[in-house]
Parts: sequence; structure tokens; C-alpha cells
Amino acid sequence: MKRFPLPRLDTAEKSIRANFLPYCRLKPGEYWSDPEKKHLVGCGDATNSDLTTELYRAGEFAPPTLAVHDPPYNLVMEKKSSVTAFINWCRLWVNSSFELLADNAALYIWMGADQNDHFQPLGQFLQMMAESQFDSRSFVTMRNQRGYGTQKNWMAVRQELISYSKGNPKFEVQYTDIPRLLSGYFKEVAGARTENGERSRSETIRPGNVWVDIQQVFYRMEENVSGCYAQKPLKAIERIVESSSVMGETVLDFFSHSGTTLLACERLGRRCLTLDLDPIFAEITIRRLENYRNNGKLGWQASNPFQQELEAVESKALLSATVER
Ligand SMILES: C[S@@+](CC[C@H](N)C(=O)[O-])C[C@H]1O[C@@H](n2cnc3c(N)ncnc32)[C@H](O)[C@@H]1O
Repeated sequence: MKRFPLPRLDTAEKSIRANFLPYCRLKPGEYWSDPEKKHLVGCGDATNSDLTTELYRAGEFAPPTLAVHDPPYNLVMEKKSSVTAFINWCRLWVNSSFELLADNAALYIWMGADQNDHFQPLGQFLQMMAESQFDSRSFVTMRNQRGYGTQKNWMAVRQELISYSKGNPKFEVQYTDIPRLLSGYFKEVAGARTENGERSRSETIRPGNVWVDIQQVFYRMEENVSGCYAQKPLKAIERIVESSSVMGETVLDFFSHSGTTLLACERLGRRCLTLDLDPIFAEITIRRLENYRNNGKLGWQASNPFQQELEAVESKALLSATVER
């Protein structure tokens, strides 16, 4: 087994997953409490509201003011379900988010749209949300640097992020790193010619609802977590966390995967309650936090979260091969 890169771990053969499962601290239904008493990582099903409530109580969290969910989209789910089944599944975790969230809170959801299948499940998801107790807030598109289907169609580079509110959540304006170089939008006010940006308080521009300034995670970046096929850029999650929560508040993420939301919360002084159905991703989430605390690293770049164990397995195999000779 190669130590780097790891294969996609959710759909990897059982024999490959078997290399990692013995090193996972959590089994379904269990949780890991942060020794620093900030965060909690659970292993289990996001639609199990008994479990999510139990985790919330176990962590002694204040009601979350923000939820950032990145579910497996119907187009990439291992066994593609009918759109109706997918939406019914989504409704369950949307409702339990509503129950757990504070009276004034924001909900962000990453959602896909399959251009080869009538852009499902985005349309159906938006419709389901219209019937939920949340109010609509924003429809953000993040631009990925790399896309697919470049030869016979427009390159697919969009990543949809929809936001909702419960009550009246706060919102802190965010800025990109892009300098405010562009002039050209002028208007006349009381006979004086003014430039649109001249009263701006920032040297850089705001992201608006089309985010073009965020690098998609790839293997050469420090934050890369090999084996995680759907990792979101830390910069995107930090933007959400900074805009919609303040220090000390609780943030929910039911689909942890590589633990990006947890890491963003650690760096920004929020408390995170997160979980993943897959014990391997729950373990990676815990390790990503530990790695950050121990080494200040955001991910594993040219390595992976299980490097030490794989090295031990390899040297044991090497040793027994030497003894046999
Ligand atoms: C798209 S990934 C999330 C990526 C994450 N935002 C990140 O940056 O790493 C979706 C995750 O949801 C998990 N998942 C799938 N079904 C689940 C369920 N019913 N309950 C909890 N987690 C689930 C998968 O194991 C996968 O790790």
C-alpha cells in the first residue's frame, strides 16, 4: 500500500478500509470529547436526532448560532438514490438543525447540481427548503479552479452554497484579498463627480455572492488531506464562520469528512460540534485537529493522516520478509 496519496477512502475496497479501521477511535454512536473541552466529534448518522441531541448535551454547548453542512450530494452518493429519497433524507437533518440552532442563527449548505440530470438535486432541495422553517438569505457560487467536461460543454466550475436564517442572525461583512484597483464606476452627486469606491472602508473588495478568490484544495497545498475526496477550502469555511458567528459561539457541522469546519472553529475561537457517519472520516477529523495543535499544520500535504501506522505496517512486512529470507 502506498503511503501517499491515499485512495478515496469512502469507496475504497474493504481490504483497503480494513487497514485504517483498527486505528479509528470511534464506532458508530460514539463520540470524542476534546481534552481542551472546546469541540466534540461524533461518529454517526446526521439524521439521527437522538444522537445529535445527545452530542449537543454531552459537549455542554450553548445553542449553535451557525450550522455549515456539506452533505454528500445525490450525484456523488455511492448508491445514487431517487431525488425524492435524497430530499426526504435532507429534510431530516435540516429539521434537526433547526431544533438545535439558537433563536437567531445562520444555516449554510453546500449543494450540487448535476448538469447531466436536470441539475438535480439543487432545484428540489431549494423547494424543500421553501417549505422549511428557515428563511432564505443568500445564494453564493464559489468558483473552482479546475472543472470537468471542458471539450463539449462549458467547463463546470461552480460550487453552490446556499444560506438561510432562523430569526435574525448577525452578519459581519467580509473582504477578499483582492486589491480595489478597478475604478470606472462614477456617478454625479450634487454636481460633483464621485467614484463608487471612494467612500469604501477597505483596500480590498468584498466577495459578494460570487467567490472567485478561493483556491480549490489540491495535493500541493498544506491543507490537503489525502484520502478525502470532498474537502472544502479552509478559506471558504473561515469566511462563513467569521461572517456568521463570534468568538466562543457554537458551530454545527453534520458532515465533517476532513474536519475543515472543526479546524476553522479552532483557529477562530469558536466551539465546534461535528460528526461523520464513517469512522475513518471521524478519526481523520480528530487527527486534523491534533496535528494542528501539535505542529501548527493545516493538513498533511505530501503525506496523510495515517502515515505513522502505515509506516509501521510496512516495516513489519519488511522485517518478516527479511526473517523469512
Ligand atoms: C462532502 S463530504 C464533507 C466535506 C467537508 N466539508 C470537508 O471540508 O472535509 C460529506 C461527508 O458526509 C459523510 N456522511 C455521509 N452520510 C452521512 C450521514 N448520514 N451522517 C453523517 N455523515 C454522513 C461522508 O462520510 C462524508 O465524509
